[in-house]
Amino acid sequence: MFSFSEIKIFWRLSPQVYLLPMEPVIRDISDTSLWVAVYRADETDRPDAVFKDPYARRLAGERGEQIVQAMASGRKNSWSLVARTWLFDQFVMQHVKDGYDLILNLASGLDARAFRLDLPPELRWIDADLPGIVSYMNEMMKDEVPRCKHERVAIDLADRNARLEFFKQVSTKGKKILVVTEGLVVYLPAEEAGAFAFDLSHTPGFKRWVIDMLSPPILPMIREEMGTLLEDAKSPLVFAPEEGEDFFRLFGWTPIDIKSRLKTAAALKRLSLQMKIFAAMPEPKGPVRKFPWAGVCLFENSARQDSFAG
Ligand SMILES: C[S@@+](CC[C@H](N)C(=O)[O-])C[C@H]1O[C@@H](n2cnc3c(N)ncnc32)[C@H](O)[C@@H]1O
Repeated sequence: MFSFSEIKIFWRLSPQVYLLPMEPVIRDISDTSLWVAVYRADETDRPDAVFKDPYARRLAGERGEQIVQAMASGRKNSWSLVARTWLFDQFVMQHVKDGYDLILNLASGLDARAFRLDLPPELRWIDADLPGIVSYMNEMMKDEVPRCKHERVAIDLADRNARLEFFKQVSTKGKKILVVTEGLVVYLPAEEAGAFAFDLSHTPGFKRWVIDMLSPPILPMIREEMGTLLEDAKSPLVFAPEEGEDFFRLFGWTPIDIKSRLKTAAALKRLSLQMKIFAAMPEPKGPVRKFPWAGVCLFENSARQDSFAG
């Protein structure tokens, strides 16, 4: 059966009404990468851009623009994605400078960091995502030259056996590995997020992990701004643990640096006057966040790393 929002009503010249299935605006989880690429492209176009992603507009394409147009908030809250991108860029560059030799970018979507950041040519970079988006990226980026040793891997990370095998292979390719998951774990139910984190922490060489997180009170606000777009694509945002970043301690990850996207956006001068007032308020200390909060967290692996999970 089709949900109500998948039904398009067609009026013909005759007064008959035809009910036909319509593709959702966001068709599946991979389409969410088109949406975030639009905000990267918008930032890139600014004369005072805090990062430049010269590929983002082409990669987002018309469909990315349609998704943004269909959102109730449109571009109003793009500051949050700009802050997220900027924070991930900072964390990646900090680790590259600190001698990390491999960046593993899981659920990479349309991320072009391996092509746009100032990376040393000897660095290894692995992007991994579902087969559809990987073949799209392979085609769209075929004439571009990466800044380091880059490869793209098609994998369903929800398939535990496949991901364990993949993590094992990756662990042989680097000594100090930074795992990056931007816009992935927020879509996972808590038990899947925990299992995923456990598999990461039990992979030798996976030293640190950068991840974006949400607090429970921000979920209804995002739902309001997105309407039913994510639900229609069967990809609702669900992961916002009460314990905040402490959720991951049980699965082998110790939080070592936590950044608020709102405060970052204020520092980057990307907020409206109203949001600046919110940003100026002090945030209560501690991981249990009872107020709307979105952030980027850096974790250190605290699991025994002498054997693999599984
Ligand atoms: C919001 S996008 C984020 C993309 C990119 N990291 C960024 O920030 O621009 C979410 C990405 O997660 C990927 N994804 C979701 N579930 C996945 C799975 N089971 N295996 C691999 N990738 C997955 C989607 O294909 C999509 O590219």
